[in-house]
Amino acid sequence: MTMVNITINGQKVSAPVGSTILKAAKLASIDIPTLCDHPALVPVGACRICVVEVTGQRTLITACTFPITEGMEIQTESPQVVKARKLILDLLFSERNHYCPFCQMSGDCELQKLGYRYGLDHFIYPTYTKGFPVDATRKYFFMDHNRCVLCGRCERACGDLVANHTLGLRNRGASSMIHADANVPFGESSCVSCGTCLQVCPTGALCDKRSAYMGRNIQTEHIKSICNRCSIGCGMEIVTRGGNVLRIDSDWNGEINEGLLCKNGRFDPLYDERERVTQPMIRIGGKLFPSSWDEALKTITEKIGSANAKEIGVLASSNSTNEALYLLGQLFCKELKATNVGLLNSTAPKLFDKPQGSLADIEKSDVILVAGTDPANDQPVASFFVKHAVDRGAKLILAGGKDNGLAPFATMIIDDLGKAVEIAERAGNPVVLYGAGVTEKGANALKKLQGKASFVAIEPGVNTRAAVAFGFNNEFKASAAKVLYALLGEQGLGSEDVLKDVDKKAFIVVQASYVSPLTDKADVVLPTAIWSEQAGSLTNTEGRVQKVNKAVEPKGEAKPDWEVLSLLASKLGKKLGTSLDEISAKATQELK
Ligand code: SF4
Ligand code: SF4
Ligand code: SF4
Ligand code: FES
Repeated sequence: MTMVNITINGQKVSAPVGSTILKAAKLASIDIPTLCDHPALVPVGACRICVVEVTGQRTLITACTFPITEGMEIQTESPQVVKARKLILDLLFSERNHYCPFCQMSGDCELQKLGYRYGLDHFIYPTYTKGFPVDATRKYFFMDHNRCVLCGRCERACGDLVANHTLGLRNRGASSMIHADANVPFGESSCVSCGTCLQVCPTGALCDKRSAYMGRNIQTEHIKSICNRCSIGCGMEIVTRGGNVLRIDSDWNGEINEGLLCKNGRFDPLYDERERVTQPMIRIGGKLFPSSWDEALKTITEKIGSANAKEIGVLASSNSTNEALYLLGQLFCKELKATNVGLLNSTAPKLFDKPQGSLADIEKSDVILVAGTDPANDQPVASFFVKHAVDRGAKLILAGGKDNGLAPFATMIIDDLGKAVEIAERAGNPVVLYGAGVTEKGANALKKLQGKASFVAIEPGVNTRAAVAFGFNNEFKASAAKVLYALLGEQGLGSEDVLKDVDKKAFIVVQASYVSPLTDKADVVLPTAIWSEQAGSLTNTEGRVQKVNKAVEPKGEAKPDWEVLSLLASKLGKKLGTSLDEISAKATQELK
């Protein structure tokens, strides 16, 4: 790598050719203040807070956009620079209503921090007396234009990262405002509520409704984990305070999502109002009564111990961790020889024995063929990758499904998958995203692209790859089960979905986090922890095993799903492991 030598504040610094002054300063741990700049966004030099003095330059220049050249001499805090920054801050504070003590971002706001840094202790210019509008029409967060500094981070995040292009700037000068689409209320716009704009906003202009005023960054903990709402497996940070989850932020270092999350992953888990199962329960005389863990497991052990393998039915939710699915498979399939073991969601057809691509290939593709899957609704971050590729000029071919969420972005929608394959064959770098909706005939057509295209199975459910690897399938016959063990976890199920064919006399055990019609019908209910309350791992749709971390304690007597199965195995005299590390290692080995 060619290096460029410069001097910053008298200190000799080397940085790769093409670096901006800001990047070179960061490499040398020299702090230059910024406001419109964000590491995930393309710099635009809008706010001018990062101005520096460069010897030989006529004016101050913006460090976030200006590239370094050999021998450059830079001053980052000279009297002229400080004076300019103070003027910019005075103007920013006077432009809108920035009354920090009443703002939920007070303590975390980047503008406020700059005010302290440059000693702004009073308003130099008259402040704005006119109130700017507040738009609270979106469910999860609101926009307070009074606190907006027009840095444009939100607009760039929505356009350049999410490729949704909802946001823009309207009017000019002091009347400039961030707006959605053709200036409609945000809640009526094309916004998909991914929250990326919320996360990049440096002030209190965009504000999360649920966690507002509940804690500043120094009062909260950020625990890295993996989203368990679909099979993409996005990296996230669970933000907690005092043992409670406040909100979910995206992890900018997330290997798959690189800082993106969708509504399902960022907001919905915190709006789940279903009633929790908080203690084990046993049915006595037709009614469920609270019991101890020991009693509940003993009751199950007696029933399972006296059933023959053919009478046992097992249903698994793909919301479960690798460890839980591994133990469920080992206990019931390997040890108890049960064969009637099903998965609660469908699966994508298996086209090849080995992986033939990854989600990252979408970014390099010139043609994307989507078949039998609707990522815009079911795996939204994958759809952001697709839309991003379309922005860059890639063609999107949708095989069938005019109702598909990606239809508005498609170059063509073709009913005949065979014809779609012919078009993709002529591309330079085609990528195929396929799901459970692909028929056997369709799968054979897709195979013609082997060697030419990258293939990514977009699995329905969450940990479907692991569930399939551990032996769970879509062949489950409810009517054959005399003893049914359902590992539901967080999956909500109506009794009609599962129970309609189950023998009325069948003994039903449900391991679940939430009360549902199925737990109401169960003979034994075992309470399990939810996404934020347990550790383990998940396998994403590409086969990547990622670590899930516990952020808060399980509610009531709930236990992690793997621990429940480990206890049950011990009661049945099977030694399948008692520590998470041991079980994780075995599960990961099996997945290789
Ligand atoms: S929430 Fe997402 S889609 Fe909506 S405006 Fe913000 S970045 Fe754009
Ligand atoms: S809403 Fe926030 S991110 Fe968007 S322009 Fe205003 S201050 Fe910047
Ligand atoms: S795309 Fe899937 S894994 Fe990613 S945030 Fe959304 S629901 Fe979670
Ligand atoms: S941070 Fe450089 S111009 Fe705004």
